Amino acid sequence: MAEKVSWWKGAVIYQLIPRSYSDGDGDGIGDLNGLLSRLSYLRWLGVEAVWLTPIYPSPLMDGGYDITDFKNIHPELGDLASFHRFLTAAHDLGLKVILDLVLNHTSFLHPWFQRARWAPRGSLERNVYVWSDDDKKYGKAPVLFRNFESSNWEWDEVAGQYYFHRFLRNQPDLNYENPWVQDQMLEVVEFWLNKGIDGFRLDAVPFLFEAEGSRCEGLPETHAFLRKVRKRVDSAGRDVLLLAEAIQPVAESAPYLEDRELHGAFNFALTANLFASIATGTTSNLRKCLEESQSLIPGSRWAMPLRNHDELWLGDGHLVPQEIIQAIRAGLHQGHGHWLNWGINRRLAPLLNGDPRANRVLNALIYSLPGMPCIYYGDELGMGDWPGLRDRDPNRTPMAWSAQRNGGFSTAPEPLLVLPAITSPGYDYRVVNVEVQKQLPGSLLNWHRRMLTCRRHLPALRVGEFELLESSHTGVITFVRSTKSMTVLVAANLSGAGASFYLNLDRWKGLRTREALWGCEYPLANKNWFVYLPSYGFGWWLIGEVEESIKDNQ
Ligand code: GLC
Repeated sequence: MAEKVSWWKGAVIYQLIPRSYSDGDGDGIGDLNGLLSRLSYLRWLGVEAVWLTPIYPSPLMDGGYDITDFKNIHPELGDLASFHRFLTAAHDLGLKVILDLVLNHTSFLHPWFQRARWAPRGSLERNVYVWSDDDKKYGKAPVLFRNFESSNWEWDEVAGQYYFHRFLRNQPDLNYENPWVQDQMLEVVEFWLNKGIDGFRLDAVPFLFEAEGSRCEGLPETHAFLRKVRKRVDSAGRDVLLLAEAIQPVAESAPYLEDRELHGAFNFALTANLFASIATGTTSNLRKCLEESQSLIPGSRWAMPLRNHDELWLGDGHLVPQEIIQAIRAGLHQGHGHWLNWGINRRLAPLLNGDPRANRVLNALIYSLPGMPCIYYGDELGMGDWPGLRDRDPNRTPMAWSAQRNGGFSTAPEPLLVLPAITSPGYDYRVVNVEVQKQLPGSLLNWHRRMLTCRRHLPALRVGEFELLESSHTGVITFVRSTKSMTVLVAANLSGAGASFYLNLDRWKGLRTREALWGCEYPLANKNWFVYLPSYGFGWWLIGEVEESIKDNQ
């Protein structure tokens, strides 16, 4: 019997911010009803899963990652009944739904924190959070939001103690040493599982436990708790994805995927290496990163975002070597004041200097490498950002649906919008929007759709084995993805100059080679197989006979 493939293996994930996606009631804020009305668009585009950034009640001091009630919906977005309607509609269209699960911290307005401050020292209630009499403890844990905070400790007048916060001071860290906290958070998992969701994106997952003398990241106790989460999810008897956000080098992210822990993890080092390849026009570091990722966790379990709702995390030498960071800083567009915390606070298109070819080749790569490609809402259009907005808001502006007022996002008067719609030169919503791009056959949007249609008929790109091939050209990366019945050759030129090179296809000698996207026949495979790729060009070639004709299925 054929092995059952989990829905998420190689699935294309579309990330969106519900508040910024579509406004169903005209108050200027996106909501679940608005999102429901756009599900047919997502289905048309061809993505398989939708990841919603936090939808829970929150004072929104950190985009909703500061939660006051884990088992409810922010009233501006809807309620549990509208969530149910949204989820049912998504499932009816065959779309999976992934929720953000914020385990590490709550809002300081969460009733647990308010109770903790007033509770006696050492009591169970106080110890729901991490307290100290001085601010020197865990001194090796780096401050993550270094544009906003200078310490991981904040003095609390009422408690008469400092509390620990890895992120903003209004996001106190939960104390996982306290079994009550563990039980509560496992109940949260259970609550949403019972609602029928298909996956969790586990926010800031390395930071659950602390230990003196360490960076307080990925401690054994943290892994032990995550295995409890996995057990709880497994007990639901459904195929539910647990996807880790661990902003770590590959070797430090891999442990979250071992020993029956989580199913997937974002590969942020890969993201940085992809941008570095564009910035330098060379692929040697990218190759190394892919080799390492695949040797540690083979298969399609790495999630591959180009951009997301945060800054492009580069770290200061911990995530990727300094040379990669320097290359990106030198070669990609940062504009004024776009460096935030540990990275570059830009959307995909402006980061790539508005070059649509670089945009396409990077997306083509995440659609062909082993893993889960992630699209950040609006990037499928090449949407711009709004420099000057606070924090990461430049990248979180309303989705551009049409040339109508507010980009069709909302009928509210403009000043009421959650964030301003983009009208900056080159990215104005009257030009860059879904309606216009749907009608232009050569648009980025139609390109994404075509790529995804084609990819659906090339299962080797989704679940196939991965093998890097030698390439004689430093700007080009070549590899094959193969299942028993299908071999797809991929070549991508990450340099801004054209590239001609030979590939050794001797092992497929004499087999037919056909470019998969446009159906163009190439010479039979041979030892010196010649390819020319224009600047930022790429290709998918089917080698040998295929089970199904992709032409018939388009
Ligand atoms: C994650 C989120 C980010 C948030 C932080 C704190 O890194 O992606 O947006 O600010 O966690 O919850």
